[in-house]
Amino acid sequence: MQVDVEKLEQEARSELGRAETPEQLEELRVRYLGRSSELKLALREVRDRETGMSLNALRQSLEEAFEEKRSGLEHGELQRKLMAESVDVTLPGERIAEGRLHLITQIRREVEDVFLGLGYTIVDGREVETTHYNFDGLNMPPWHPTRSPAHSLFLSEDVLLRTETSPSQIRVMEAQDPPVYMISPGRVYRRDTPDATHSPVFHQVEGLAVDRGISLADLKGTLLHLMRALFGEKRELRFRTHYFPFTEPSIESDVSCHMCDGTGCPVCKQSGWIEMGGAGIVDPNVLEFVGYDPERVSGFAFGLGLERIALLRHRVPDIRLLWENDLRFSRQF
Ligand code: FA5
Repeated sequence: MQVDVEKLEQEARSELGRAETPEQLEELRVRYLGRSSELKLALREVRDRETGMSLNALRQSLEEAFEEKRSGLEHGELQRKLMAESVDVTLPGERIAEGRLHLITQIRREVEDVFLGLGYTIVDGREVETTHYNFDGLNMPPWHPTRSPAHSLFLSEDVLLRTETSPSQIRVMEAQDPPVYMISPGRVYRRDTPDATHSPVFHQVEGLAVDRGISLADLKGTLLHLMRALFGEKRELRFRTHYFPFTEPSIESDVSCHMCDGTGCPVCKQSGWIEMGGAGIVDPNVLEFVGYDPERVSGFAFGLGLERIALLRHRVPDIRLLWENDLRFSRQF
């Protein structure tokens, strides 16, 4: 096979000059120096020394040219990458959004601080409860309206999303002997129609104190201490008698309305008061249910709505604002 060495070199070098990527270069290398290239086939058939020398010289010079081009392309590629990935440290940085605690979390922590200061422990309850703890242990008779699926969210016949934090009272008393001083904050669920002061999911904080000689005066003093810590001296408080199956006597505590200062408005349904929570002296049946002796110990319990505290503290006109996660609202606290 006759090869025009000069022509082949010229052609290969001019093609090499046009190669821009490692892939194009590899294609050319196969074409000019690969096993079936014109040059390699000619080398295999060489008969005389002179042709052999000139073909070998061409092979060597082309190999060098390819090597040079390869390292040139690699260098260029590296430069391009470095340029593309370079960081201009003089540019202003991106501002990272600063998070904050939700108002309900802030209030929960404040309530916890008040009770930690009084020597109470904080207990986590269960959001999914059995009817045994949510109703039976709380002395609720089978006909009690909250046992109906129209009021509560059942997961099965005897398992439901807890309707109040009170079942934690039973679990704590079952697990330990008196004295008990505990609070248990958490979410609760009810089929309540949403309005300015009601949400179907909301937070309560349960409180329980069981010891020798606990009386209604201790309960009132404790709630007053909490209210003063949360609202200051200015806001009015009142206690009303009420009924809960698990306390006797029972009371409800109200705080003067944050929107009208007690004169009456649509938020407090013209009453001038917002209900904060229920409370009372633990019913002897409940103490017996957990194996305590009502002759030896007595106790008080309370359950407060954390959203209600938030509304009253910050004059929030509608409870739904607390759940909408609108940053313009949440950022204010
Ligand atoms: C109870 O849930 C009782 N477990 C409280 C209790 C505990 C009484 C211990 C005695 C001893 P009540 O259903 O009233 O009671 O709810 C307590 C508080 O939760 C209310 O005063 C109110 O502040 C809040 N609350 C009730 N329903 C809602 C609702 N739908 N949205 C927001 N807050 C609510």
